[in-house]
Amino acid sequence: MKSRKSWTAVAVLIVGVLATWQLCGSSAVAGDTAALPVAVATIVTVEGGQAKYVGSNKCKMCHMKQYKSWKTKKHAKALDTLKPGNAAEVKKKFGLDPAKDYSTDKSCLPCHTVGFGKPGGYAIPDATDKKSVKHAKYTVGIGCEMCHGAGSPFVDKHKKIMMSKTKYTSEEMHASGMNKIEESTCKKCHNDKSPTIDAATYKFDYKQRLIDGVHEHYPLKYRKE
Ligand code: HEC
Ligand code: HEC
Ligand code: HEC
Ligand code: HEC
Repeated sequence: MKSRKSWTAVAVLIVGVLATWQLCGSSAVAGDTAALPVAVATIVTVEGGQAKYVGSNKCKMCHMKQYKSWKTKKHAKALDTLKPGNAAEVKKKFGLDPAKDYSTDKSCLPCHTVGFGKPGGYAIPDATDKKSVKHAKYTVGIGCEMCHGAGSPFVDKHKKIMMSKTKYTSEEMHASGMNKIEESTCKKCHNDKSPTIDAATYKFDYKQRLIDGVHEHYPLKYRKE
């Protein structure tokens, strides 16, 4: 059952890619991209279930400004928080042990890393394996994909926009698997399953939090308004 489904996926994927190719070939006229979203949407519907995390470093290649700004936010350091001695006051207040190393505690990692336990997501590194150490480095904290969605379904589309300099709409981006960010995106983590959040007193002012928690915003070149 499962393998049949994935073969269908591959077939539809190929059709989608071919369609995209054809469209690109025939759209020598700048701006003639009206039919492109159709092909892209076809690809995504079938790939949806198997999205992989690619790590913040991938996004950094093309979005350096957002990356640099993100680096200065608490989200970028959320794994460090779990290490012994850090955020000791908060830990004490909520009955956690400030001397304990929570950075290897599987109950904390889903909200303090990128895609813990999921394909391409953070995995506790093996110090003797350089590759795993490197991978862990790129998936620490609340990386880009925890808000924008796992990158594998949409990174190629972004690359295409860059190479072809074609205009796009946000709707197209969302159709290709990128999240439409809403308050609920944040509340996947900002909820009382967190040991430091007391539902009775916790406030989440979405507008203010967007300003405090999210990277700075920079103008986009190819987005159609
Ligand atoms: C994957 C889980 C996750 C998601 C999704 C998430 N956050 Fe967070 N957020 C955290 C964690 C964990 C911290 C604490 C970081 C630390 O200090 O270690 C945090 C901290 C913050 C802070 C800083 C709070 C302070 O004490 O200064 C703000 C602001 C914030 N988040 C806003 C947002 C907004 C807005 C969104 C959605 C657009 C969002 N977060 C999405 C997990 C998440
Ligand atoms: C359901 C998601 C979730 C889980 C699971 C989770 N956290 Fe968090 N954690 C958060 C969020 C969200 C915040 C930021 C809260 C805020 O300030 O709005 C946070 C903040 C913290 C802070 C305060 C950081 C600061 O800068 O003040 C500490 C300490 C912390 N978490 C430790 C832990 C530990 C230890 C575990 C595991 C035992 C854990 N968390 C599990 C979501 C989670
Ligand atoms: C806490 C959630 C959150 C995280 C983490 C996050 N972003 Fe964003 N990002 C947003 C929001 C909200 C917007 C504005 C609305 C939108 O475009 O959906 C945005 C917009 C953007 C944009 C559009 C241009 C702009 O500056 O507004 C780019 C590009 C972007 N983010 C890239 C990144 C990259 C790269 C990372 C990781 C280094 C990242 N984002 C991490 C929430 C986040
Ligand atoms: C090969 C380059 C490249 C990579 C890699 C890349 N992007 Fe993009 N991305 C772009 C380009 C080009 C645009 C359109 C920017 C513009 O209009 O100026 C874009 C647009 C965006 C936007 C704005 C979407 C909107 O609604 O307008 C977001 C958010 C974004 N990228 C997030 C990410 C994230 C997250 C990653 C990593 C998983 C990523 N990108 C990887 C090139 C890239």
